[in-house]
Amino acid sequence: MKVRVEKLTKRYGDVTAVNELTAEFESGKLIALLGPSGCGKTTMLNMLSGILPNSDGKIYFDEEEVSDLPPEKREVGLVFQNYALYPHMTVLENICFPLKIKKVPMEERIERAKKMAKMVHIDEYLDRKPKQLSGGQQQRVAIARALVKNPKLLLLDEPLCNLDAKLRVEMREEIRRIQRESGVTTFFVTHDQEEASSISDYIMLMKLGVMQQYDHARTLYDEPANLFVADFIGSPTINQLHGVWKDNGVVVDGTDSVCKLNKEVEIKEGTRVVFASRPEAIVIAKDGQLKGTVKESYLSGKDVLVDVIVGEQSMRAYVDADLEVKEHDVIGMNFKDKGVFVFDEETGERYV
Ligand SMILES: Nc1ncnc2c1ncn2[C@@H]1O[C@H](COP(=O)(O)OP(=O)(O)O)[C@@H](O)[C@H]1O
Ligand SMILES: [Mg+2]
Repeated sequence: MKVRVEKLTKRYGDVTAVNELTAEFESGKLIALLGPSGCGKTTMLNMLSGILPNSDGKIYFDEEEVSDLPPEKREVGLVFQNYALYPHMTVLENICFPLKIKKVPMEERIERAKKMAKMVHIDEYLDRKPKQLSGGQQQRVAIARALVKNPKLLLLDEPLCNLDAKLRVEMREEIRRIQRESGVTTFFVTHDQEEASSISDYIMLMKLGVMQQYDHARTLYDEPANLFVADFIGSPTINQLHGVWKDNGVVVDGTDSVCKLNKEVEIKEGTRVVFASRPEAIVIAKDGQLKGTVKESYLSGKDVLVDVIVGEQSMRAYVDADLEVKEHDVIGMNFKDKGVFVFDEETGERYV
């Protein structure tokens, strides 16, 4: 099922938690709602489920407007961060529960619950109580319970944040697999950009209740809409050097050479800008346009990363392992076309 929101807004008194959000979410996809804590992800999810009435705007499931439909009529499956399993019920009873509420006959509900337990790989533990399960297993039960009603929409609010690092990566892949197998349109809330990028078909990145960009993870990385997106996505984070626009390039503060761009750009001479570069977009070269002093060089996995001081600012670059750079070396740097951007210093708006 496709989901569309139109100027969707939620206000709590003076706080606007979600602000005039308009977007269309393709059917059958896994969509990550991403952003820092407090940006409105949970509020957005709860408006989709109907738990939280919206203040303004509209929600459509396919062509039907559901803004005023109560949660039980929206046919959505919800999974919370703390799983919220019923402690006194067994795994099987937990998964069956939503069907019991819907008065599905006993035999059918057991059959459907068992099928779902199998899909989430929890079928060996049907007789256990939640406290006899690990965090990852409890999460599987919560997902099975959400899916057993055949919901049109699956909503997961930071479902992995209580798990340890290794299990989190494992469950991430499991959620991806379960989503593919069930084909249900899924919203997955997280504040972890790496998690969002690895799991989702699309990412919606939010800041203070406002959507910043909605696209494939790769597009957010390669073509960020603004400085906030460029900064939020990617690890190590994007380099940001402040400077002034001059002669179709940037004069970084504390230096006097111009880092020229390869294409003509219309920016007013003298504009304060942020010259941003991905660490892999930098090429070390003797006659490089930008000079800096190496502060530190270290291994990051199989790659060598160097911290470089330019004027009074610092940046990071990947260098070839066979290129020997040491502390205090003065190096030159050139920039590739891809992974290099110029933003307005004040507004964060992207020029290039
Ligand atoms: N019940 C509430 N009453 C007042 N303000 C709230 C309430 N719930 C959330 N907020 C505020 O709305 C904003 C968004 O919250 P939330 O959707 O929980 O963010 P996130 O899930 O991205 O961390 C925050 O500023 C939060 O303090
Ligand atoms: Mg939240």
